[in-house]
Amino acid sequence: MRIILLGPPGAGKGTQATNLAKRLNLTHISTGDILRQNVSSGTDLGKQAKSYMDSGGLVPDDLVTQMLKRRISEPDAKGGFILDGYPRNISQVKALDEMLEKRNTNIDLVIYLDTSESVIIQRLSGRLVCRNCGAIFHRKNMPPKNDMLCDTCCGNLYQRTDDKEETIKTRLEVYKKEVFSLIQYYEASRKLHRISADEEAGIVLNKIVHLAEERNDSLKV
Ligand code: AP5
Repeated sequence: MRIILLGPPGAGKGTQATNLAKRLNLTHISTGDILRQNVSSGTDLGKQAKSYMDSGGLVPDDLVTQMLKRRISEPDAKGGFILDGYPRNISQVKALDEMLEKRNTNIDLVIYLDTSESVIIQRLSGRLVCRNCGAIFHRKNMPPKNDMLCDTCCGNLYQRTDDKEETIKTRLEVYKKEVFSLIQYYEASRKLHRISADEEAGIVLNKIVHLAEERNDSLKV
């Protein structure tokens, strides 16, 4: 199964995709995570992407699309995946459709995580991420057991550089400018389902699993 999680910064795409991947045995592909790994290891791609990410803008489509093409060609993506952070505009939608068409596959389900602005700000301002394994925490909502250490691998937790107030504002503006066309596109193909993502993470996950199971059943018929 191939699923897209759509939603604003802080909607919980990364949190939900991580848990959903475990529940459904799918591969979680986050373009933001891959870009951050490239930035921290100083690759050419990372050097080119850094300034866009620091300002809250989008990294140019050709860079991100090439990166995604390579990632979905890896063996672990063959059995299905969850996309988190891609596509972000209509040109990326088209590029994704082309990529999948060449593989005789398609997107099965698009879930839009509807989130209110006050929740987004609260979530992003308290987010902590593991520098080692990328696990996501929150100072209040999902605090680590040990202060600033990852529960999974004991790596150090840090605050993302784009989680500053000014950058969050820009990220939200960029998101709002593009999201409507994505929603329209996936609504027209009857793949989009909206759920409220303001609730507690476990409740949101159950709603997503339910939608995925329904879709999976309909694919078998
Ligand atoms: P990316 O990493 O994709 O950032 P984003 O889309 O802004 O989304 P976030 O990662 O901020 O939020 P999320 O929805 O994953 O929330 P999370 O689960 O962490 O992209 C970063 C940058 O990379 C972009 O700005 C751009 O520059 C570049 N980029 C990436 N993809 C690109 C593309 N395709 N094209 C061009 N450029 C691209 O949760 C947030 C917090 O809330 C956490 O602390 C979590 O613990 C907490 N939380 C989550 N869910 C709940 C809940 N239900 N209840 C309580 N707390 C919760």
